[in-house]
Amino acid sequence: MEKKLVSKKIDALANAYTRVVFVEKGVERLVKHDGVNTLEIVAGKLEKITARTFRTLIRGIVQSAKKYKIEKLAFEFDFTKYPKLGTYDAAWAYQTIAENLTLADYEFTVYKSKRPKEVLQEILVVGDVSKEAKAGFERGLIIGEATSITRDLANTPGGDMTPKHLMNEAKRTLKGTKATVTVLDEKAIIKLGMGGLLGVGKGATEKPKFIVIEYWGLMKPGASSTKKAPPKPTAESPIVFVGKGITFDTGGLQIKPGMAMYEMHMDMSGGAAVIGALAAIAKLGLKKNVIGLIPAAENAVSDAAIRPGDVLKMMSGATVDVLNTDAEGRLILADALHYARRYAPRLVVDVATLTGAALVAVGQHASIIMTKSRKLEDIFRELGEESGDYVFPLPLWNEFKQYIKGVHGDIANIPSSDSKYGGSINGGTFLAHFTKGMKWVHIDMAPRMTSVASDKLAKGAAGEPVRLLVKIAEKL
Ligand code: BES
Ligand code: ZN
Ligand code: ZN
Repeated sequence: MEKKLVSKKIDALANAYTRVVFVEKGVERLVKHDGVNTLEIVAGKLEKITARTFRTLIRGIVQSAKKYKIEKLAFEFDFTKYPKLGTYDAAWAYQTIAENLTLADYEFTVYKSKRPKEVLQEILVVGDVSKEAKAGFERGLIIGEATSITRDLANTPGGDMTPKHLMNEAKRTLKGTKATVTVLDEKAIIKLGMGGLLGVGKGATEKPKFIVIEYWGLMKPGASSTKKAPPKPTAESPIVFVGKGITFDTGGLQIKPGMAMYEMHMDMSGGAAVIGALAAIAKLGLKKNVIGLIPAAENAVSDAAIRPGDVLKMMSGATVDVLNTDAEGRLILADALHYARRYAPRLVVDVATLTGAALVAVGQHASIIMTKSRKLEDIFRELGEESGDYVFPLPLWNEFKQYIKGVHGDIANIPSSDSKYGGSINGGTFLAHFTKGMKWVHIDMAPRMTSVASDKLAKGAAGEPVRLLVKIAEKL
């Protein structure tokens, strides 16, 4: 579907365009007003529309247009009619429109034997369009497209989405942009001593990959010495995004029961979000340095798989007791977070479908964030609201460290008591062990791995938190 923005009065359009009219109450319906097809959408009072309800209102337009099999649709947007959007500016509003039209239009049809024909051809946004509004709309299209890439990757079934496939998709997605993709294979991963990534990947036929995406949009700082004292972050130091790339999570030998395994082909959603975000950042040409790191492996069941009780030696030198083979995400992320040190990053953000406990804690309307910095916590919450990828904090207090003390190794991947309490915090606390001395935020995106009905998005991957990652790269 084409999305366009034009500076025009809606009455000046050809009759081929069905017009959207927001009504305060009543029922949604398709009617003729003066011979012109009009889609009436119930929006309540426009004065009451907030940034949050604005997004679902926009998505609802696409949903309704598809329901009524409309080919060409137009709607007029007047920023001044939405006072509650005033926290932001018109550029934000037009960006949000473009993003959410794209998000709502997305469908995953790759595996349908008969691809449904797209009826909806065009949505025209009509308004008093400034230069800023136009730029915002264009940005929104780029970021929206990036979320579609992320959703395609995450929705691809585990049998097809292997570490090698994820590698190829990262290369394909970033081809022709200023971002470069380098991939470390098993040999290189062994050489670096990434015991976490190797351990988790051991049970699968396809060996792990470590995908490195570099985007030097500002300038490359002087070659960092990886020997001796690590270099100090400077203004040019990059932000590093680390994405969990478990292409399928069976749970390993501690196999997941029944339907708990069903959606685990999406356990690489964090990695997919990092790929999408870097694609957007590169296409937007941001004058920032941003690195994406994706440890990719399949957590499989076989005689070669890691066992409960195994002790892994990580890249950092730390030893880890594997008390549960299903707590594999933190093992591969620990090595990636340590690898990030070579960039002397200004900030490290990891994104992972890390714990089912995150859904127990907050439901499915926000990802969880954990950080030792109150300032970063506040910034992330703000940018979450601004972008639409909402986040909510859990604590990372020192009190939690006692539960993951090692039995034979230095640290354990779950509490040795196998407590059912604080599951997400235990995951964050484990990762904190590997990020000492770095500015770091952990995003447990398990709650937002898939859409829920009220999101007004297609079933399956939600494409989060691509919009937030792009915002972080822009604003920090
Ligand atoms: N990938 C899962 C977490 C998950 C579950 C993400 C459901 C999205 C939806 C993760 O690797 C996992 O299995 N975590 C365990 C941790 C436990 C063994 C401490 C979990 O959540 O049960
Ligand atoms: Zn797991
Ligand atoms: Zn997992």
